[in-house]
Amino acid sequence: MRMVDIIAKKRDNGELTKEEIQYFIDGYTKGDIPDYQASALLMAVFFNDMTQTERAELTMAMVKSGDEIDLSAISGVKVDKHSTGGVGDTTTLVLAPLVAALDVPVAKMSGRGLGHTGGTIDKLEAVEGFHVEITDKEFTDIVNRDKVAVIGQSGNLTPADKKIYALRDVTATVNSIPLIASSIMSKKIASGADAIVLDVKTGDGAFMKHEEDAVALAEAMVSIGNNVGRNTMAIISSMSEPLGYAIGNALEVKEAIETLKGEGPEDLTRLCLELGAQMAVLGGAAESLVEAKEKLQAVIDDGQALEKFKTFLKNQGGDPTVVDDVSRLPKADYQYEVKSKESGFVEEIRAEEIGIASAMLGAGRQTKEDVIDLAVGLVLKKKVGDPVEVGETLAVIHSNTEDVSEVEAKILKDYKIGSNKVNIELVRQVITG
Ligand code: URA
Ligand code: CA
Repeated sequence: MRMVDIIAKKRDNGELTKEEIQYFIDGYTKGDIPDYQASALLMAVFFNDMTQTERAELTMAMVKSGDEIDLSAISGVKVDKHSTGGVGDTTTLVLAPLVAALDVPVAKMSGRGLGHTGGTIDKLEAVEGFHVEITDKEFTDIVNRDKVAVIGQSGNLTPADKKIYALRDVTATVNSIPLIASSIMSKKIASGADAIVLDVKTGDGAFMKHEEDAVALAEAMVSIGNNVGRNTMAIISSMSEPLGYAIGNALEVKEAIETLKGEGPEDLTRLCLELGAQMAVLGGAAESLVEAKEKLQAVIDDGQALEKFKTFLKNQGGDPTVVDDVSRLPKADYQYEVKSKESGFVEEIRAEEIGIASAMLGAGRQTKEDVIDLAVGLVLKKKVGDPVEVGETLAVIHSNTEDVSEVEAKILKDYKIGSNKVNIELVRQVITG
């Protein structure tokens, strides 16, 4: 086989075989195929797309390029959730104990990553003592007994994706549905998921700004998952404003606790019930999404979900008393209220920019070496559709530095206030296989 023939075939809009896709992935991962040939193929895919079969083969070839996590020692259907990335997205912290309370095993592998706030592990580390450095055996035992645990990423997962993603970044081929879908799905499958729930965000704060692109991506991922034997469902949800009120690590832990008590923000609660219902159905805990939502609401109402969160924290060394006393979480030295200079309705809160404001306070990392300040962040007091008067508080800045004038000015710019009462439709579509 020759790489040049594979490139020519895709250039002429042909369908690549399983062997041709494997030849490319193996050769490129090993360094036998040079960047210029890989780039040419990626650009041909960008223009000519891939069939559903090609997408599934590409995904599995990337899965096979590295280690695969074996979760077979854990009984039950292991359902994983993936979000395409939002601002103030506290859903994982809520969903892990919530779904586990229905006896669906949540065996989560998580990373730290870069972003406006930390990843799930950073957030959980805001709870004193909580750690993810547990052995594979401990991880398995905990999930079998209590249905929920989080472990740090280990092993060499999908090296082909790492290399290809980096190449796409510098060859203007990131924005391609077959390439994004296979990239995301390969990582989920290599992490051992039997079933996958996807939260594909759309809107200003999302990777996919337009809804039709988000739908196309969701359909592509659902199709790949189901083609390779992983039950997969997706939700298209709005990122036209940050999710919930809190953006920041300890602040989001507090928000997750409130949500598990049934006292959380309406949008975050709604999305957690929608995603949780899909996880419960795929995990076999309910026959329908309607039944699943009722069961999830029941474990919130009777306190089982909150109890599960305590167990989860305690199992991994965390202080479970934070659940009943959130003042035990790290607190910033200064709280500063950002007051509106206009009256009207909040028409828009630019999610991406609000995320950046939170990062400016130190809530996230720009480089791997950055140290996160777990206490800092933002708490929104007004959301889209809310009326606001001059002098009313839009958001509270939690900071460990005294001068927050730059962040304040930024938040005032990111809140668009006008005369229209806008209503955001949070859950836009549900996509099942
Ligand atoms: N996220 C990924 O993991 N891969 C992509 O290709 C795009 C976003
Ligand atoms: Ca939030």
